[in-house]
Amino acid sequence: MAADQLRGQYLVEALAACDNCHTPRGPNGYDLSARFSGGSQTFTGKDYIARGSNITPDKETGVGGWSDDAVSAAIVAGVGDDGQLAPAMPSDSYRVLTDADRNAITAFLRAQSPVKAQPMAPPQRQGKWSPHPAPGAEAAFDEAALSEKVKRGLYVASIARCLACHSTEVDDAPDYVNGLGAGGKIFRTPAGVAVASNITPHPEKGVGAWSDDEIKRAITHGVSRKGEALKPPMSNLAKAHFAKMSPEDLDALVAYLRTVPAKE
Ligand code: HEC
Ligand code: HEC
Repeated sequence: MAADQLRGQYLVEALAACDNCHTPRGPNGYDLSARFSGGSQTFTGKDYIARGSNITPDKETGVGGWSDDAVSAAIVAGVGDDGQLAPAMPSDSYRVLTDADRNAITAFLRAQSPVKAQPMAPPQRQGKWSPHPAPGAEAAFDEAALSEKVKRGLYVASIARCLACHSTEVDDAPDYVNGLGAGGKIFRTPAGVAVASNITPHPEKGVGAWSDDEIKRAITHGVSRKGEALKPPMSNLAKAHFAKMSPEDLDALVAYLRTVPAKE
């Protein structure tokens, strides 16, 4: 694979976890024979029902007929071929992508096998959603930002959606002003109910008293401070995706998390 495709693969697999919503699941996890041909999960919000679309290069049912710019716009701006995508597509978290990284993701997608598959349910979108990027992650980063450790950590946290899942919510959207990293969002999966934890540096309620290694182990192995298995979606993301994070990104991510204001 070319260097940009490899970088795209890293971003897609280790950070953004695009498979999580765009690859169908079988009994043993992702069905990679139909990779990126559409997700198994239906997302229902106040004004929409959506499924992760077919993002393979198939011309008819995927994005094979889209220009690179159109694919990029879907990823970072949430613009589809017929208007705004439902917020289940986490473009707010991908706004930070540098130009090179955005292009790398597109190049990686272009290199996948086309799969003919219609998304299982036609999306319904009636809403007009306002964007909710995390503080400091409102716009594309430049390459220089990635060599500043804490900024790089914010970059990783945004793309990996740590903040989108781990912040309190108001009206179905993360409340970054009052609840950045404070947890509380409820996830219902076939495996049960999980409540996102407080990942701020609060010494009792958050991860302030954890060692760097304990935080890294939770992220990459999906286990608690005591070593007990965390519930999905965290456990799945950790094992299938975050386990592939580079040591540099992981260090930066932990350094960033330590700078988030502590919340009860
Ligand atoms: C949390 C789930 C989720 C993740 C993670 C996710 N997507 Fe999506 N994506 C969706 C959903 C749902 C839609 C369809 C939205 C709609 O129909 O309005 C979508 C739509 C798209 C589209 C528009 C395709 C079309 O036919 O309209 C593209 C392109 C896309 N995603 C690419 C990506 C890439 C690349 C990644 C990883 C960098 C990614 N997505 C990560 C849920 C997700
Ligand atoms: C799709 C939502 C989602 C995403 C994305 C996500 N998490 Fe989680 N995370 C959760 C949930 C839910 C739990 C609680 C699991 C449980 O109760 O077993 C959790 C648990 C954790 C824990 C364990 C905390 C404790 O007190 O045991 C840490 C640490 C953590 N996440 C950090 C992160 C980081 C860092 C990222 C980004 C790389 C991230 N998470 C991405 C939903 C998510």
